[in-house]
Amino acid sequence: MKLLLALLSISLVQTSFAQDQMELGKTVYMQLCVACHQPTGAGLPPVFPPVIGTEYVSGSPERFAAMILKGVMGPITVKGMVYNNMMPPQEALLTDEKIAAAITYVRGSFGNTSPAVSSEVVKAARAKFMDRKTSWSEADLKAWPEGNAPK
Ligand code: HEC
Repeated sequence: MKLLLALLSISLVQTSFAQDQMELGKTVYMQLCVACHQPTGAGLPPVFPPVIGTEYVSGSPERFAAMILKGVMGPITVKGMVYNNMMPPQEALLTDEKIAAAITYVRGSFGNTSPAVSSEVVKAARAKFMDRKTSWSEADLKAWPEGNAPK
C-alpha cells in the first residue's frame, strides 16, 4: 500500500511537471514562435514552414534544440515546399528551460504526439555546440545522426 501511494505520488509529480512545461512552452511559443509559425502551427507557406507533422519536430530532440539555439538558414524543404528564409538564433535570449518547454509544447500540440523534451537535452546541446557561430543548413540537419527517426 505504501509503495502504491509512493508510486502514485511520483506519477502525480511527473504529470504536474509535464503540465507546467506545456504551460511555459505555450507562453514562449505565443510570445516568440507564433510570429512566424502562427497560432495553429501551420506557418505561412512559402515564407514560414509548418511545425505540424514534420521530421524536424518529431525527430531528434537534440537537433530540435540545436535549431532553436543557433537558428536555421534556408533553403530547406519542409513537407515538399522549399523555404529560403532565416530562423533567428535564440541562444542569447532563451534559457534551457524555456527552449525545452517550447519544444515540448510544439511536440505535443497541433496534432503532434511526440514525447516531452527535458531542459537537460537543451543544456547538453548548448555545451556541445558552444563554439559554433553559424546557423544550421539543411545539409547539416539531414546529416544529424538518427535525425529523422521519431524520438
Ligand atoms: C522570425 C521567424 C521565426 C521565428 C520567431 C521562429 N521560427 Fe522556426 N523557422 C523559421 C523559418 C523561416 C524556418 C525555415 C528555415 C529557413 O527558411 O531558413 C524555420 C524552421 C523551423 C523548424 C524546422 C522546419 C519545420 O517546420 O519543421 C522548426 C521545428 C521550427 N522552426 C520551430 C520553431 C520554434 C519552436 C520557434 C520558437 C522557439 C521558432 N521556430 C521560431 C522562422 C521562425
